[in-house]
Amino acid sequence: MKKEEIFKEYGEHILPTYLKIPLVFVKGKGSRLWDIHNRVFLDFFPGWGVNNLGHCHPKVMSAVRDQSARLIFVPNSFYNLCQAQLARELSFYTFPAAYFFCNSGAEANEAAIKFARQFGAGRHEIITFENAFHGRTMGALAATGQEKYQRGFEPMLSGFKSVPFNDIGAVEKAAGPNTAAVMLELIQGEGGINVAKKEFVVSLREICDRRKLLLIVDEVQTGIGRTGKMFCYQNYGVVPDIITLAKALGGGFPIGLMAVKKELSGVLGPGMHASTFGGGPVICKAALAVLRAVRKDKLLQNAVIMGEYLKEKLTALKGKYPVIKEVRGMGLMLGIELSVPGEAVVASCRENGLLINCTHEKVLRVMPALNVTRGQINKAVGILAGALARL
Ligand SMILES: Cc1ncc(COP(=O)(O)O)c(C=O)c1O
Repeated sequence: MKKEEIFKEYGEHILPTYLKIPLVFVKGKGSRLWDIHNRVFLDFFPGWGVNNLGHCHPKVMSAVRDQSARLIFVPNSFYNLCQAQLARELSFYTFPAAYFFCNSGAEANEAAIKFARQFGAGRHEIITFENAFHGRTMGALAATGQEKYQRGFEPMLSGFKSVPFNDIGAVEKAAGPNTAAVMLELIQGEGGINVAKKEFVVSLREICDRRKLLLIVDEVQTGIGRTGKMFCYQNYGVVPDIITLAKALGGGFPIGLMAVKKELSGVLGPGMHASTFGGGPVICKAALAVLRAVRKDKLLQNAVIMGEYLKEKLTALKGKYPVIKEVRGMGLMLGIELSVPGEAVVASCRENGLLINCTHEKVLRVMPALNVTRGQINKAVGILAGALARL
């Protein structure tokens, strides 16, 4: 198919739910992507946070190839060797936990919402935060404190109280006899790379302990090494009761996961929650390959070193281009807040072979693969500087 035919097919047969960039990618390797005209791009926002290992990591490719030649799928009514292997490997990294497997971030958060309601036994409210993003299904959407995503889909599922981020007084005020949980991202990704303060997270844990609430941390975007630790909560010295994961865990294949503290594992019993595809053999092998690659390729260390290097270079740009208000983030999850809308910068970078993202209108989001190199960072920052100069 030619590019024009692909566009035509989309126009005629695919629901226009996504704003489209007129590029067709056909090949990827590490931090590079090739389009249909064989033009190469440096990908500093790979897969919206999915490709933490870069594109087509050889360990993920061979794990999927091997497992799909053996057994592609069996339902959760049977025991599944690959799921048991993945659970064992995950347990090296998480707090002592029991896992529920599903297929996406929204689904993992739906599981957490249901879990909180069951745990609450009558208490059904969840405190969430302004500018949060937890997904597009009706429960996750209700938890997402941004009107622009909810508009037109009302009535929202009830029972969510959205309060200002990093405001512990607001949480204290919102907590009441019906509260069952507090749910947050430690770095709000879609909300503009807003980083939770350490004292705030420590106090949240204290409130949750005192009031017997679940602390649910959505690690869908921050998980799997993105911030230099396997999970972002490990930067805070605070252990949540539940984390939800998706995106990078599958190395490009769809997966979702809810991890709950082991002592809470009796809250959901047989028949109370399910997902047909959740934790199938092929995806579990892909996730296993991801976790092993993070360890063997020392990607957490690389994320810390390259994260500091990239932040330093971006901060240096701030001195040169007053349009940059702030550079913030952790590890390789960085945001550059501008005083003007960022879409023109993103487009100009793209025209010059660099893919980045803009979120919350004015925040450029840069989240390269964890195996990004110094050379690739130098090149990307050069292209970004050119785009800022052209503003
Ligand atoms: C923090 C967070 N939670 C949940 C989601 C939803 O994940 P999914 O698109 O896999 O449903 C996202 C997606 O961007 C996210 O960033």
